[in-house]
This record gives sequence, C-alpha cells and structure tokens, in this order.
Amino acid sequence: MITAVYPGSFDPVTLGHYDIIKRASKLFDKLVIGVLVNSSKKSPLFSMDERVIMLRDTVSSLGNVTVESFDGLLLDFVKKQDSHIIVRGLRAMGDFDIELQMAQSNRVVAPDIDTVFLSTAAEYSYLSSSMVKEYAMYGASVEEFVPANVLPMVKEKIHLMKVN
Ligand code: PNS
Repeated sequence: MITAVYPGSFDPVTLGHYDIIKRASKLFDKLVIGVLVNSSKKSPLFSMDERVIMLRDTVSSLGNVTVESFDGLLLDFVKKQDSHIIVRGLRAMGDFDIELQMAQSNRVVAPDIDTVFLSTAAEYSYLSSSMVKEYAMYGASVEEFVPANVLPMVKEKIHLMKVN
C-alpha cells in the first residue's frame, strides 16, 4: 500500500491543483492532501477550515484521496501518514529552483522521503492561487481557474471582504 502526500497552501485550490490530485490519485494507492496551517507567506484569504472543506468537496468523487491539515514540518506530517513520497506540481522554470531546493533539503533531513514531481498540465501552467485571488478581488470571473464547487466560495469570500 503506497501512500503519497500532496502538500500545499491551497488558498484556494485551483484547477491546476485538481489536475495534479487526479493524476497522483491514479499513481498511488492512497493520496493524502496536506493543507499547511501556517505559511510564511502572507496571511491566507481562506481559513484552514475553509480550505480543508473546499478541498474535501473538490475531491469527493476520488475514493482514495483524503484531506488533512498540518502544522510544522512537512516531513513529520509525511511520516505520520506512513508515507515516504511527497508529490509536487511543476509549472515552469520559476517553480524549479525553489522546488528543487525544498526536495533536496528535505532529503538531507529525511533521506527515505522522496519528492515526485508531476508536470502541470500545459493549460494550467500559468495558474496560481495568488492570481485567482487577484482577479477575484478586482471583480473578474475566475470560473476558468477553480473547480466549480470552489467558485461560489471565492465569490462569497471576496464579497464579505468588500462589505467589511
Ligand atoms: O502551496 P505552497 O504554499 O507552494 O506549498 C508549500 C509547502 C506547504 C509545500 C511548504 O511551504 C512546506 O512544506 N511547508 C511546511 C514547513 C516545512 O516543512 N518547511 C521545510 C521545507 S521548505
């Protein structure tokens, strides 16, 4: 039974993430999506609970995929899941430096845990959660960028931000 972990901030989950999730779920017996509670990035738009709910809803049709939150070191979360595989998507060269650095440093700390990279589908190679938030904030439609179940949640969150 091979379990892999797909970690990220998922603020919010995009169609690019979803594509990686679907493909990774076919490669491994079980895929655990790890939603990072606290990122060094600026404060998230969606709370951790909201991001987990969104993802659980998004992957509800995929029988071998679960969603958990984690805090602290990714490697500790991977071990807790009885896994030795981290899945990451690679969009373009911009991702490569940071992803290679993370994968290599993680292997220094935990040599038994490997990172497997999946190339992002070409049609989503430009897509990021930050971009989705920026477009949504300025009133543009983001329906081409996020799973259909996530769209109303993005709209509502932006609406609430604007009225508060
Ligand atoms: O979606 P993101 O924000 O690009 O995901 C980044 C993530 C969650 C994979 C990375 O920040 C992470 O692993 N954070 C947990 C803390 C950790 O283990 N740090 C050491 C490796 S940089």
